[in-house]
Amino acid sequence: MFFSHRKDILRFLDAERDVSVVKSSFKPGDVIHYVLDRRRTLNISQNLHSLLPEVSPMKSRRFQTCAVVGNSGILLGSGCGKEIDSHDFVIRCNLAPVVEFAADVGTKSDFITMNPSVVQRAFGGFRNESDRAKFVHRLSMLNDSVLWIPAFMVKGGEKHVEWVNALILKNKLRVRTAYPSLRLIHAVRGYWITNKVQIKRPSTGLLMYTLATRFCDEIHLYGFWPFPKDVYGNLVKYHYYDELKYKYFSKAGPHRMPLEFKTLNLLHNKGALKLTTGKCE
Ligand code: CTP
Repeated sequence: MFFSHRKDILRFLDAERDVSVVKSSFKPGDVIHYVLDRRRTLNISQNLHSLLPEVSPMKSRRFQTCAVVGNSGILLGSGCGKEIDSHDFVIRCNLAPVVEFAADVGTKSDFITMNPSVVQRAFGGFRNESDRAKFVHRLSMLNDSVLWIPAFMVKGGEKHVEWVNALILKNKLRVRTAYPSLRLIHAVRGYWITNKVQIKRPSTGLLMYTLATRFCDEIHLYGFWPFPKDVYGNLVKYHYYDELKYKYFSKAGPHRMPLEFKTLNLLHNKGALKLTTGKCE
């Protein structure tokens, strides 16, 4: 089933297009339905519209080797930073911090995702000036990288997205904002379900891997380890950088990360990708 897996993915999604909506998709004031919460709506604000890219930020971009970096604590002590940074294109998730962990995770960030909930979780809900300054500082380190914000998934994060957009505009940050298309998550889920991988909502890491199959010849995954212990029985933090706990073991969680991992591991064994879960040389 996996041999033609990349070609198959192309039948489900047009990664270049679905990676972001573009300016011409909407006009300010348009009302759209949330992808995973169809009864609720979102207004396309002037700020959001002004930050939509004119063309896909991934248009015509191809790389020989890419790294997709998940956020598992398995990265701590891995010494993988140099190897990760040696890839042509590095994708990271949820604005994870890098500088303090550079030896293990590297710093190169060509594409970085940011769920709206990150504002609350890592930047104090922008309650005071120092939270906002910390955020602006983090984004200013990204330069021309793509900042990918799933703004249309579920209701709840709209004010966070608006604040983020306002800070980017006010501080004239150079990040290249991208907002995934309304069909991306369904297309990715459709692909995996059709291949008998019964995921729930694809995790950010799986979404990134799926998109990367379009842009990268070789894909190397790091920081994917959704288990509380390593193979030697040592405790592994859920995130390498904070104290968040293993929430996905609850049936109510949105993802099936262990199942996703099993699938990625199968693809590793078939040579379709390279999964690193130990130390780098
Ligand atoms: N991940 C993993 N093992 C962990 C933590 C994360 O394999 N212990 C992978 C998952 O694919 C995850 C990605 O790394 O999507 C990024 O991690 P994180 O930012 O923690 O994602 P979550 O916020 O937990 O989930 P979401 O996918 O909803 O963003």
